Order: sequence, then C-alpha cells, then structure tokens
Amino acid sequence: MKKKIALIGYGQIGRGVEKRAHEKGWTIPIILRTSGVYNFRQEKIAESANWLGYFSRKEIDVAIICISTLDDGTIAYYYINRLLENGISVVTSEKGAWGNYGPELKPYINRIGYSAVVGGGTRMLPWIRNRISSNTETMHFVLNGTLNHIFDGLSRGKTLNEVIIEVQKLGYAEPGAKKPLDIINVEAGKDVPLKVASLINICGLGEIRAKEIKVHNIDEKNLRRLIREASLRRYIVSITKEEDEEEDIIGGFRFKTNDWYVSGGFKNRNHNPLFLQLVPPGVNNASLIHGIDGTYILTGPGAGVTPTVLGGIMKDVESFLKI
Ligand SMILES: NC(=O)c1ccc[n+]([C@@H]2O[C@H](COP(=O)([O-])OP(=O)(O)OC[C@H]3O[C@@H](n4cnc5c(N)ncnc54)[C@H](OP(=O)(O)O)[C@@H]3O)[C@@H](O)[C@H]2O)c1
Repeated sequence: MKKKIALIGYGQIGRGVEKRAHEKGWTIPIILRTSGVYNFRQEKIAESANWLGYFSRKEIDVAIICISTLDDGTIAYYYINRLLENGISVVTSEKGAWGNYGPELKPYINRIGYSAVVGGGTRMLPWIRNRISSNTETMHFVLNGTLNHIFDGLSRGKTLNEVIIEVQKLGYAEPGAKKPLDIINVEAGKDVPLKVASLINICGLGEIRAKEIKVHNIDEKNLRRLIREASLRRYIVSITKEEDEEEDIIGGFRFKTNDWYVSGGFKNRNHNPLFLQLVPPGVNNASLIHGIDGTYILTGPGAGVTPTVLGGIMKDVESFLKI
C-alpha cells in the first residue's frame, strides 16, 4: 500500500520533503498552510481552522511539522498534541515545541521524530542519546551554523559586512534581523537557547524551557572585541559534570539542570584542548562527548534544506513507516 504523509508548513523544508516523498512514491494527500488545507492537487479544500478533520489515522501514516518557529513553539506544540491524540505519529523540524514544551512532550518521545530539530542533517540528537553514559564527563557543541559561518569567515580575513551578506544570501540567518549585531543576537539569543533546551529535553539531561534561559546579549563594544579575536572565538555550548568557573566567554548564558552545568557563549578556543578538536568549518555543526571511555566527535551540515530533509526528516519518517 502507498505510504501517505501530510505536511504542516509548506516553506523550504515542506517543499523539500514533498520532492523527496514523490521520489519514493509516497503520496501527500493533505498539506496544511496558513492560507488553508490543500489536497494533493494543491487545491484548497478547507480553511486552516478546520484542519483537524482532515488529519485522520485512516488517511495519514505520518505528519511532518515544518512551520516557522512561532510564538515560542506554542503553535507547533498544539499541532503535535492534536496529531498524537488522533493516533498519528509526528516528525518535526521545528525547535520551539521541544525547546519550550519538552517536559510535556517527553512521555511521547517514541511517537515524535526529532532528529531535524537540532543539527540539520547530522542526526546529532539520536547520536548523543546513544553515546551518553555514566562515563560521560563533558560535552561540547557547535549548534548554530550561522554563527560558526560568520566567525569562520571573519577568521579567514573577510569583513563582517561580507560574511553577513553571505549568510543572508545563503538563507542561513533567522528571519527578522537585518543589522549584523541584531543578526548575531538573534542567533545567539533565540536560536541557540531553543536548540540547547531541545537537546537537554530530548537527550534526557534535564527539563528546561528555552524562554527561561537568561542570555547576555552582545553590545557594540563586545562586537568590536569579537571581530578582533575572531580567529580565537567560536560560539560553543558546554554541558559538564563539573563547573568551569575560569571560562573565557563573551555573551551567552550559564545555568544548571539536574547534575549538569550548562554554559554557552563566544568562547576562547585555546581555553580547552577539546575545543580545538570540536570547531568545524563553515555552517557545519559539531558534537563532542568526552569521558573515561574516550572522546567522540560527530560533525556535518547543521542547516540547509537537503541535509535537513534527507539526513533528518526522511530517515525519521522511514523509521515510523518501518521501511
Ligand atoms: N531551512 C533549514 O535549513 C532548516 C533546517 C533545520 C530546521 N529548520 C526548521 O524547519 C522549520 C521550517 O523551515 P523552513 O526553512 O521551511 O521555513 P520557511 O521557508 O519559512 O517555511 C515555514 C512555513 O511555515 C508555514 N506556516 C507558518 N505558520 C503556520 C501555521 N500556523 N500553520 C501552517 N503552516 C504555517 C508557512 O507556510 P505557508 O506560507 O504555506 O502558510 C511557511 O511557508 C523552521 O521551524 C526551521 O527553524 C529549517
């Protein structure tokens, strides 16, 4: 029997999933957009407020949520809840729901595909869940490809304006911000906390809501220093059993969840030898897990439609479809 998937959101990721689903011979009987509910011929068949009546277990095997992160994830969380109640498994690339409603979603983790929420196509979340053990002492992450790309470019001699134009052209920057300082603060102050909270919630390290993470924004003076020290600095998130009080860090956040100390910010790469192994080039993301059993590193494209759809979403869908 033909596999049937539904899309909620029809932007870059939604269209990317549609293309790959057609290649696999799956059908997409229903697409929910802000403007309405659409059938497989792209004809509008209902207003979006009446969407739920079109999402039944009989018609759909898996629903994929690829909407923008709106309202701190409340809308995506609402969709996930209603779909699970209707007996439909969900795959999501949206990070607000897991970032702010992780504690509520946790009991249903086996029915929610989450690989694309953090790390694009790297599948870092299932990798971290599998790798963490009682031997784990420290974990370090590069979770924001845009910031990594900006600082990689600066450290190669490009100007701030050049790298900012580049990330905007490539579609890497979160929507909204236009000025360099605002772009950096949106990535560091909104995207990173949502990803950190999603990672903590999904990987069972604690229960946290992104909106409760207090972030120190970068000001103009910090920005000038960051540009001068660009070859030394990267935005690194660390989750450690022991607190590192000597960290050389600009901006970011610090908090504790369960037994773990969490810190994020523009850190000095020379401060910790593990950072030298961690930092990837360009827009890539990276995870490093270190303990008495050794040091393990996963790295790869942290954003972009093709890696996110193929590496993240499609593999999650296939595991629900059992193919
Ligand atoms: N692009 C990437 O490389 C990437 C990588 C990893 C994760 N993500 C995440 O994946 C999600 C989608 O990304 P994207 O790049 O596809 O974003 P996008 O191009 O901005 O598309 C988002 C779509 O969401 C739809 N939407 C918004 N509110 C909606 C609602 N209430 N109900 C139904 N649909 C709604 C809109 O569709 P209509 O205009 O048709 O209504 C819009 O086109 C985001 O949360 C993003 O953070 C993206």
